[in-house]
Order: sequence, then C-alpha cells, then structure tokens
Amino acid sequence: MIESTLQEKHVNHIPVMLSEVLEYLNLQKHGVYIDGTIGAGGHAKNILGSPSFSRKVIGLDRDAKALEICKNQFGASAHLLTTHRTSYHKFPEIMHELGISLVNGILLDLGLSSMQLNSNSRGFAFESNGILDMRFNKSSGQTASDLIRESTEEELANIIYNFGEERRSRKIAYNIKTMKKMTAVADLKEAIRRSTPPHKRKKSLARVFQALRIAVNSELDKLELFLNSFIDYLTINGRVVIISYHSIEDRMVKHAFRTLKNDQRLNQLTKKPLIPSKKEQEINSRSRSAKLRAAERII
Ligand SMILES: C[S@@+](CC[C@H](N)C(=O)[O-])C[C@H]1O[C@@H](n2cnc3c(N)ncnc32)[C@H](O)[C@@H]1O
Repeated sequence: MIESTLQEKHVNHIPVMLSEVLEYLNLQKHGVYIDGTIGAGGHAKNILGSPSFSRKVIGLDRDAKALEICKNQFGASAHLLTTHRTSYHKFPEIMHELGISLVNGILLDLGLSSMQLNSNSRGFAFESNGILDMRFNKSSGQTASDLIRESTEEELANIIYNFGEERRSRKIAYNIKTMKKMTAVADLKEAIRRSTPPHKRKKSLARVFQALRIAVNSELDKLELFLNSFIDYLTINGRVVIISYHSIEDRMVKHAFRTLKNDQRLNQLTKKPLIPSKKEQEINSRSRSAKLRAAERII
C-alpha cells in the first residue's frame, strides 16, 4: 500500500526553477553532469534532453526509494544515466569509480522531495501520521526520535533555535523532553501544541520539523564538505547550480562562491540569488522558499 502511494505521489513532484537550472547549467551536447540530489529525476530528465545528444547524468541520492522511482522515469534515455546511493558530498568517489576526472556541471536541489514530504512512513511532515524518522537514508544513522532521546534539553533547544530560527525553542525543548513518549509525529506535534499559541503554531511546527530534519541528516556539514571541494571537479567554464530552501544554506553557498571568486577561480553568474517567478510560486507552493545561485569555474 505504501509502495503504491509513493509511486503515485512522485508524479506530483514538480522540479523547482527548471528553466533557470537548464539555462545556468549551459548544457553542452555531449556534456557530463552530476545531479547530486536527483530525487524523482525531474531536473535530470530535462538535463539529459533528447537521447540523440548523448549527454550523461550521474545521479546521486541518499534515499533508496527515491532512486528506485527515479530509475523508472528515464525510458529511452536510461542508458545515459547512472544512479548511486550516496551523499552528494561524496561525488568525487563516484567520479573515480566511473573513471571520470571532470564534469561540465553540477546541480544540487537541496531539501525534500514532494514524495518524501507526502509519505506517512518517513515523518518529515507535521501533517503526516507516521513515526518520527526523518532520515534521508533509512538504513543508517539516528532517527529523529533517537536524536531527541539522546540530546539534552539544552542541545535540543539549540537545534531548534539554530536550524529552525524558532524563538520558542526553550519552551518547545522542555515540553519535548517532558513528554512520556516521543516516537511518533503526533507526539512531537503535541509538545509543540503545548508550547505555542494557536495562531503561531503552524509556523512553529514547520520550523521545528525542519530543524530536526537538518540535524538528523547533518545537512549543513554535507553542504560544507561539498562547497570545499566541488570546484576541482568542474571543467573550465563548468557550471555549478545550487537551489537552497533555508537561509543558512543560502548564506553558506554565497560565502563559498565569494571566497572562490576572490581566489579568481570562479565567476558568479547570479549576483543575488534568483527566486521562482510569482507564477511558479502559485503553481508549486514548495518552491516558495527556493533560492538559486549559479557560478562558473574560470581557472
Ligand atoms: C528537492 S529533492 C530533489 C528533487 C529533484 N531535483 C527532482 O526534480 O526530482 C531533494 C533530494 O535530495 C536528497 N538528498 C538530501 N540530502 C542529500 C545528500 N546529502 N546527498 C544526496 N541526496 C540528498 C533527498 O533524498 C531528495 O530526494
């Protein structure tokens, strides 16, 4: 039942800022591209374009289910795609395995896919009824309920404040730690309900869930590792495009690009981050917090 629900839901994942991604990747007919967060393959399918181009995409994702669904999307172009279950910051290892030293472009579309958000078994969304898991890679690492159990109240408050920018972090952390049970989405929602006035609750729910997801998956550490190494693996004139959904991530990308620009290794193609058009935001509410930055290797 869950399997078929996921199969149906992936159809609803709309790739964010697709035309901007394709434009800024400056696609070459026979180029090789890395999609570091391939998800349902929405961007990747369009990067490949017509099979006659013989462009190649190396697709990475930590989520085995996402890769399974993704692989079914490519039809006649499937031979031009390889998929790998790993974190995007480990892309040099995959390039090494494939015997590739440089690529023409790298895309990161950070955050969550609609299929993950809509899945009851993952615990990513406060609207779901599942267990508090929140791992992108379901076969390793701490779940959100493990993290909550093993953190002190102060550590939890810091996670909620730093990654969720939630002002009521201390009260929420106190109520989380004093709940008898904290294994289901409903338990966490109840702790947040006890800590927040009704008119502010929805925003607090979103912030706390986002904060815990970032902590469970060490998302910022992985982005940092990627930003420290990607430039060496791009061809001259190769492009990097990063879509982030959190102000901390966008700031990290901005600083990394600026440092590389100052070292004269990179040209920033977006002085300010691009955001989705009004029309896209209306059609795809998930795109609303997206910020896209792009850059080109020059040396
Ligand atoms: C917003 S979705 C990507 C959607 C995709 N661009 C599309 O159009 O279908 C983000 C994906 O990144 C994956 N992800 C998150 N952190 C990751 C990491 N460190 N390494 C690889 N994939 C990651 C998630 O599992 C999810 O499938």
